[in-house]
Amino acid sequence: MKLCMIGSGYVGLVSGACFSDLGNDVICVDNDTKKIDNLKKGIIPIYEPGLEELVIRNTKQNRLIFSSNLKESVKKSDIIFICVGTPTRKNVSSADLSYVYNVAKEISLSINKFKIIITKSTVPVTTGDIIENLISKKVNKNLFCVASNPEFLREGEAIRDFTYPDRIVIGTDDKRTNKVLKELYSPLISKGAQYIQTARRSAELIKYASNAFLATKITFINEIANLCEKINVNVEDVAIAMGLDKRIGSRFLRAGPAYGGSCFPKDTKAIVATANKYKTNLSVIKSVIKSNENRNKFLINRVNLILKNKIKNKKITFLGVTFKANTDDMRDSSCLTMIPELVKKGASIKYYDPTGYKEIFKKFKNVSYEKTIERSIDNVDLIIIHTEWNDFKSINFNKLINKKKTKIFDMRNIYSSIKMKNDRISYFSIGK
Ligand code: UGA
Repeated sequence: MKLCMIGSGYVGLVSGACFSDLGNDVICVDNDTKKIDNLKKGIIPIYEPGLEELVIRNTKQNRLIFSSNLKESVKKSDIIFICVGTPTRKNVSSADLSYVYNVAKEISLSINKFKIIITKSTVPVTTGDIIENLISKKVNKNLFCVASNPEFLREGEAIRDFTYPDRIVIGTDDKRTNKVLKELYSPLISKGAQYIQTARRSAELIKYASNAFLATKITFINEIANLCEKINVNVEDVAIAMGLDKRIGSRFLRAGPAYGGSCFPKDTKAIVATANKYKTNLSVIKSVIKSNENRNKFLINRVNLILKNKIKNKKITFLGVTFKANTDDMRDSSCLTMIPELVKKGASIKYYDPTGYKEIFKKFKNVSYEKTIERSIDNVDLIIIHTEWNDFKSINFNKLINKKKTKIFDMRNIYSSIKMKNDRISYFSIGK
């Protein structure tokens, strides 16, 4: 099939590369000409395991091409995926849909034969209706169909999540569109993915409700972890036993820092904004947002206790600063709140991240990047394990740190408390 992905960010680039790998002809479009030029040379703008090989392989086969010419790309394609960003609007918590609507307007100027136009970006309920109205101002309704196909892939696991999804959700009432999309996804359906056809508005809401529920699960276990710390209970025992109940499920029950990334913080706020518009009180999600915001303060407080109320002049190292492992994405990483707060309290910060130096910390005098784990943890008062990269899972702290001086705060519960105790390392974790 001939596909066009408009927006070559996370969703557009990963799904475009994966669709081409399934044998489709895909054009990935972006208005960032530098990004497109780089992609043509095989230079990938994001860190995502496996993506570079996939892009290079399919580019060589001529199944995957890159372009900045939206109109020409739309003309050549049968299925158009809108994959541009829907960030939170400034000063309000609803999603900024200007990129989506601008793209829809441009598409409407290039419809030369029947096109299926799909929102893969996370868009609020009724966005599909608005896109349909926008396009029908220029084009006869028989020449296009607007459907919703939310994407559920995670950064760092994107290719695996695309290839082996739990479900594929298609929001359309149009039989012809449903048939084409079922065929497009048939290689994944035959490997066990559930194909769900729903109304367009339902598909739009499914994405927000799913992300909000996952954020709720994480926040729930984070609060249980707070209680565990007070009553000498191990949150991991609680999470494992809870997760074995199939009604609850074991995934996304790992306590840790505040959830971050480009989706959960944005999408929880956006679903509340939608509900407010329809005079519905999503009180659970509202308190999830609040609890997650408070989590940074809570963890800073714990750092303060670990350092015996003396953060001033202390040397603190962060291992990992992105919002989670296996990504270079800093968006809404809890480090962006915790590091400035610790600096404000007089600490000096070193950090190491497998994805390298982060421009965002340049403005802080007391924050420096180290090129190796060893250098970053040498002669510091506290090591904070902030993300769970494999690189951090077998550090020989016994050999590398001064046990009298250096404490470890493992925010991802990577290490065994018992082993650390036996090794006489001053070790603190989450929910234990
Ligand atoms: C999330 C969803 O998991 C995807 O299904 C969805 O497609 C995506 O948003 C999106 O809307 O585009 P992502 O933000 O890439 O994916 O990352 P997650 O793996 O979900 O992690 C989000 C945050 O939750 C991270 O800060 C992570 O550290 C945290 N988390 C996750 C926990 O603290 N505990 C857990 O058990 C799981």
